[in-house]
Amino acid sequence: MFDELQPLPPDPILALTPAYRADPNPDKIDLGAGVYKDEHGKTPVMAAVKQAERTLLAKQDSKAYVGPAGATGFNEALAELAFGADLAGALGSRRTSLQTPGGCGGLRLAAEFLARANAGATVWVSDPSWPNHVPLLCAAGLGIAHYPYYDFDSHSLRFDAMIDSLGKAASGDVVLLHGCCHNPCGADLDREQWLALRELALANGFTVLIDMAYQGLGDGIERDAAGVRLLAEALPELLLVSSCSKNFGLYRERTGALSVICRSATVAKAAASQLAAIARASYSMPPDHGAAVVQTILENSDLRASWEAELAAMRERINGLRGALAERLAAAGTGRDFSFIEREKGMFSFLGVSPEQAEALVNQYGIYLVKSGRINVAGVNEANIGYLTRSLAVLLRTSP
Ligand code: LMR
Repeated sequence: MFDELQPLPPDPILALTPAYRADPNPDKIDLGAGVYKDEHGKTPVMAAVKQAERTLLAKQDSKAYVGPAGATGFNEALAELAFGADLAGALGSRRTSLQTPGGCGGLRLAAEFLARANAGATVWVSDPSWPNHVPLLCAAGLGIAHYPYYDFDSHSLRFDAMIDSLGKAASGDVVLLHGCCHNPCGADLDREQWLALRELALANGFTVLIDMAYQGLGDGIERDAAGVRLLAEALPELLLVSSCSKNFGLYRERTGALSVICRSATVAKAAASQLAAIARASYSMPPDHGAAVVQTILENSDLRASWEAELAAMRERINGLRGALAERLAAAGTGRDFSFIEREKGMFSFLGVSPEQAEALVNQYGIYLVKSGRINVAGVNEANIGYLTRSLAVLLRTSP
């Protein structure tokens, strides 16, 4: 029965990591998958995570099942991190939250849930968006439409075109937004734009799904959640997927959550039972370790302070690299304006190279980036920035 199966192309992002590892080029640079790296190119285990793991090792006295919704303490702590304590309190039992296997697990669960609520739902996805959004949503049978978001020439938002396009999204449709640090373009909505979207959602009645995978890596933990909170305080329905992969460095532990805000506590109760049933039918229950680590950190003031300080240092390093990269690219004689890199937020920006140029960077220079031209800024460091900017300048001069 398997004989007709055809091989599929490798994942456009994940395949870059083994290819980079296998490359013997001593100058190679990994700007591919969105994984934080320090100045030495390492992805460290955060100090608060190590300490929480030691605490868990000493204190945990059972590995019995937790349940399809995961740990209540984790769910509440993560909801407070995203919505803020006041709003989380005000939403009360209109909100239900579930622990999920990472952000991907949360998105897939959200997609299955949306398909149960409205099998014919269309999800509006930004152009561009993270390449795994569409497969995750389509796997649940949802329809996809795209709205314009980013102008590749001017490296700025196409907000008017976005609003025009989303004017067609109606009740029963879903609009997917990035909470902060847009992946792949790094261009975020400002307060006025979030408010305009909120008005549109209220007027048209579409449901908003927010993917927040980088809270704390743009402008700070609170400021990065400002858009989510503006929408959550006013909209009757909203879904939020939170990931702990990047801001807690828990990538392989698959730690995340899905919060669903409903019109009433009664609806939220029904939603919680549907979500638990989908989880049960998919993976029964989420892995525990990462969530236990996050809960331990968020509930302990010393560990939380340590985590916040380390996250702030990561954010400042990325923002510093953005400035350095814009400056060095201008000085390298690329003949292009790269100042947008400094304005953008989070791990990613587009270099503005063609797919052919991106391939040349990988194959001729050992500089690994996604074919769309997206780079992970955190992969840059003092030791490789010279090679990176010189190589890009040569490439842009010789094959513009
Ligand atoms: C990325 O966008 O590089 C990360 O979110 C990793 C992934 O799963 O694609």
